[in-house]
Amino acid sequence: MSSTVRPGVIRFAKPDLKSSRGDIEVPRGSVLMEALLKAGLPVASSCRGDGVCTKCRLRVRELEAGAASGISDFERGLLDRIQADRAERISCQTEVLGLIEVDADYW
Ligand code: FES
Repeated sequence: MSSTVRPGVIRFAKPDLKSSRGDIEVPRGSVLMEALLKAGLPVASSCRGDGVCTKCRLRVRELEAGAASGISDFERGLLDRIQADRAERISCQTEVLGLIEVDADYW
């Protein structure tokens, strides 16, 4: 029996990005913001992933159970501070563990 670790997969919600970019496979556990930057997508930030600015907020939908890391107390504090809606995550604090769909206002 082999135990293969499934990669994380990022899918874009907007149809134009979805068709031009396709699904982006990333190593399981990749930080969402870093994975998007590596793929050439801009992610707003003024703290470069230090968990200070909250500008990296993105709408994230898990398309399978456990596809994103759980919300830590630290991230919960950031989300509460900006009164984020339920779909939003702080992308520099979120790990990709399976298939997720992401969206930003500025893409
Ligand atoms: S990049 Fe500043 S909080 Fe995520």
